[in-house]
Amino acid sequence: MTTNGSRPRMVTVRVQRFNPDVDEKPYFDEFQVELTPAKTILDALHEIKTAQDGSVTYRRSCRHAICGSCAMYVNGKNILVCNTPLRDKIDEEGTVTIRPLPYLPIIKDLVVDRSSFWEQYERVKPWLIPSADVPEKEFRMSSEEVAALNKAETCIMCGACYSACQVIAMNKRYVGPHALLKAFLRVLDPRDMAPSERLADVGDQDGVFRCHTIFNCIDACPKDLDPTKAIETLRKLAQKRQAFEAARRDRQRMLNEPIASS
Ligand code: F3S
Ligand code: FES
Repeated sequence: MTTNGSRPRMVTVRVQRFNPDVDEKPYFDEFQVELTPAKTILDALHEIKTAQDGSVTYRRSCRHAICGSCAMYVNGKNILVCNTPLRDKIDEEGTVTIRPLPYLPIIKDLVVDRSSFWEQYERVKPWLIPSADVPEKEFRMSSEEVAALNKAETCIMCGACYSACQVIAMNKRYVGPHALLKAFLRVLDPRDMAPSERLADVGDQDGVFRCHTIFNCIDACPKDLDPTKAIETLRKLAQKRQAFEAARRDRQRMLNEPIASS
C-alpha cells in the first residue's frame, strides 16, 4: 500500500538478456517495478538489479545525461535511460521493453561492444590541430562562427545516433554520424589548421558520401543535435576545400584580433 492507502501501480519491465557464454540467442525476462513520479528507467534497472536479479547487466555512470554510457533501445527508440522517466515509456499493456543499442555486438544483456564506434571516432582525428602561431592573448571567435557550430560541441558520445543509422547496420566502414559531427566541429573551428586535410579524409566513399540522408540520427539524438546538417555542410565544403583552406589561413592571421560581430 502507498502512504494514502491506495495500491501501488506496478509496471512490467521487460529486459533483454543474453550471456554469450551460455545462451544461444537473446530472450526476455520480466520484472515488476512500482511506478513513482520521479522514477527514471535507470532507477528501475537499479531496483531490479538490487532487489530482484543481481545478474542484470548494463552500463551507466553519471546519471545526469552527461557521460553517454546509458544509451539503450527502449520501446523501439534509442534513448538515455538516466533522464527518461519510467512513466513516459509505458505502453498500452503497462510494459516498458528495454533492449541494448541495435546493430552492435552484445557483450552481455544491455551492454554492447562499441569498438567500431570508437575506431571511427579516432579516424577523424577528433582533437584540435592548432596553428603554430598561437595568439599572445586568447583565441577570438565571432558570434557567427560560434553559431555555425550548431551546438555540435555538446555531443556526449552516447552512440544513440550511430546505432540508429541503417547504413552502419549494413556497413561498419561508414564513418558514422557521431564522428562526422566531430569532423564538422573541427573543420568549422577557426583555430584548427587542418580543415583541408580533414575534408579530404571524410570526403571519400566511407565518409560523407556514404550517408543516405535517412535522418534516424537526428531522431535518436538525446541532445537534439543535427548530424545530417553537419554531414551536408561537410559534403559541400569537401568540394571546395582548397578555397576553404585559403580562407582559413587568412582567418588565422587575425585570430587574436578583435572581431567585429554583428
Ligand atoms: Fe545515417 Fe543519419 Fe546519414 S541516420 S544515413 S548518418 S542522415
Ligand atoms: Fe551518464 Fe546516462 S548515466 S548519460
